[in-house]
Amino acid sequence: MRRQGVITALVAALAGVGAMVAAGLLGGALREQVIPGLSDAGTLTRWGLPLSRFVMEAGGTLTVGVLLGAAVLLPSTRGVLDPQAVRYLRGASWIAAVWAAGAAATLIFTVSDILGLPAGKIVGGSELSSYVGQIPQGTALMFVVLLAALIALLARTAVTLGSAAGLLVVALVALLPPPLTGHSSSSPNHELAISGLAMHIVALSPWVGGLLALVWHATHDGDHLGVAAGRFSRMALWCYVAVGVSGVANVLSRLPDPSLLYTTDYGRLVLVKLALFIVLGIFGYLHRERTLPALMAHNPKGYARPAVTRPPWAFVRLAGAEVLLMAATLGVAVALARTAPPAVNLDEDAVTSMIGFPMPPPITVARLATMWRPDLFFAVLVVVLGGLYAAGVARLRARGDAWPPGRTIAWGVGLLTIVAVTMTGIATYSPVLFSTHMIQHMVLSMLSPILLVLGAPVTLALRALKPAAIRGDRGPREWLTVILHSRALRFIGHPATATVIFVGSTYAVYFTPLFGYLMRAHVGHLAMLVHFLASGSLFFWVLIGVDPTPRKLPYVAKMLLLFVTMPFHAFFGIALMNLGKPLAAGWYTSLHRPWGTSVLADQHTGGSIAWAFGEIPTFIVLIAMVLQWYADDQRLARRLERQADRTAGKTDDELAEYNAYLASLDKRPPSASSSPPQE
Ligand code: HEM
Repeated sequence: MRRQGVITALVAALAGVGAMVAAGLLGGALREQVIPGLSDAGTLTRWGLPLSRFVMEAGGTLTVGVLLGAAVLLPSTRGVLDPQAVRYLRGASWIAAVWAAGAAATLIFTVSDILGLPAGKIVGGSELSSYVGQIPQGTALMFVVLLAALIALLARTAVTLGSAAGLLVVALVALLPPPLTGHSSSSPNHELAISGLAMHIVALSPWVGGLLALVWHATHDGDHLGVAAGRFSRMALWCYVAVGVSGVANVLSRLPDPSLLYTTDYGRLVLVKLALFIVLGIFGYLHRERTLPALMAHNPKGYARPAVTRPPWAFVRLAGAEVLLMAATLGVAVALARTAPPAVNLDEDAVTSMIGFPMPPPITVARLATMWRPDLFFAVLVVVLGGLYAAGVARLRARGDAWPPGRTIAWGVGLLTIVAVTMTGIATYSPVLFSTHMIQHMVLSMLSPILLVLGAPVTLALRALKPAAIRGDRGPREWLTVILHSRALRFIGHPATATVIFVGSTYAVYFTPLFGYLMRAHVGHLAMLVHFLASGSLFFWVLIGVDPTPRKLPYVAKMLLLFVTMPFHAFFGIALMNLGKPLAAGWYTSLHRPWGTSVLADQHTGGSIAWAFGEIPTFIVLIAMVLQWYADDQRLARRLERQADRTAGKTDDELAEYNAYLASLDKRPPSASSSPPQE
């Protein structure tokens, strides 16, 4: 059985490289290309770059898969990893080292390819350091090298579930820099291309890497295989959907004209991937219908040694074939990324290359409402948060438990406010107008969070999630409890920390060069909006959150915190209104907006929006706080009353008992003794 696992891994590597070479020759990525004015870096780079990229992608995917196996798929006992899981961590350390080496080689070959210099000249040359230091793609690849090397080191000694989970998070983060800085930013729809590719990579890694880890586990140790396979299958379905959605988003952002799918090399490679993706879906279906039920039936806790009930041949065979197909798809994908997409926007103007779409017409209320610009990241965020919440409420309902409709409404309206400022005309105008950007900032940091925290998502999760099937193991519910009691959350959730992050970061972003830097890249703009939403949610969770907080503040202190904090937002608005020069001047002036007020006047408008907007949340928070305070008081009064009753009830009993005794004395004949019974 073990040989089966090793053979599957080796054949998968060959299938991947083979598919990459075939796709590279078909699509042109591996054919010699003479670009006027650019010297050719040579054969070594032409082949070395896609090969090293394949090693980097496969290394990253596998590291995520093996860490997922150790930290999530295999059951643990009270936070201590299963011995097999520890062995997988050690394995992940080696795979991460391969990942780091693949990323380092990709870095060298990329510089060689861009400069048209042989790779040998690049190693040790100044070109490499300047590429890493000045070019986002270079910095991104360097990040991957460093993070993968860090995982390789730490996975050598990690033994706890917490550390395995931490390494998994680092690995998922390390997947992001290349897609977020890759050539997607040169495609017709930058934002969609960048968010789409990042989502693509993050969704496919646990799915592809997790399956290979599962096949390895089934052919090596196999304990708890049923549990691990069940968990994997639930996750794999969502990954499959996410890979498909992001894959289509990738295509739409690069091939706006569908005919390019069959008229260009790039398009044809995409069709190959689509076909492979559909076949992979069929494999998934067969697993769900056949191999997994059989596995669960025969190996509820996996086959324990030595009494092996039944080796999972059916599962290993089907999953083994599936892994080969996935490796081949990975190979085609790497060749696709090395194939130049058809040039469709030759007349792209400076503004389009800056904001990803042409300068919008003069702003009007109607255009704010109608010029929608869907953002993949926020669309997925809203759908996931909405879907999970609805599933939680449905589960409580199904159990006959009530859930206050006010909370569901608050959550729903909160999500709608996110859609309103990240996908409507506000998103279209926010890159070109500071004032519209300020509306986005204010809603995401001061309105959406208030509504979301009143939705009590953590309380819902704790009530809806089932405890882990195996005693002492950590399922989603247990993980949530661990995170809620973690030292990190105690620190971040401390009212002082939350307030400093909420207020301080606003000043840090706008009154330093950071704002200008973040506006220049879609990823920077996205990070800014996510930060506003997260820091606002943290602050209002502490202030009016229904969910349990690490440190519960008395209401007077909360009031005080509100009145101390809100003036800072007013100051921020007033400061903006009084600034004599524009923030991020480089960005706004180079847009040459042909309509509307001047950049500085627009900034002053933004300042007045910030100043005025502060009142709304203060008002909502005050009402919420007073209502919570009143409800708490009521609850306390009822509790005290119950206690008083209970105490009163007890005295009554004693009183009744004593009276009964006195009554019994009355009934006895005169000769019996007169002293009362002893306790
Ligand atoms: C609906 C099916 C899919 C479609 C339409 C699709 C489409 C795409 C597109 C357009 C890209 C961007 C290439 C570029 O940078 O120009 C991409 C990247 C990628 N895809 Fe897919 N894909 C699909 C499924 C998959 C599957 C199933 C896998 C793996 C098992 C996969 C692996 C990858 C990888 C690794 C990349 C990044 C390549 C790189 O940057 O080196 N894709 N995909």
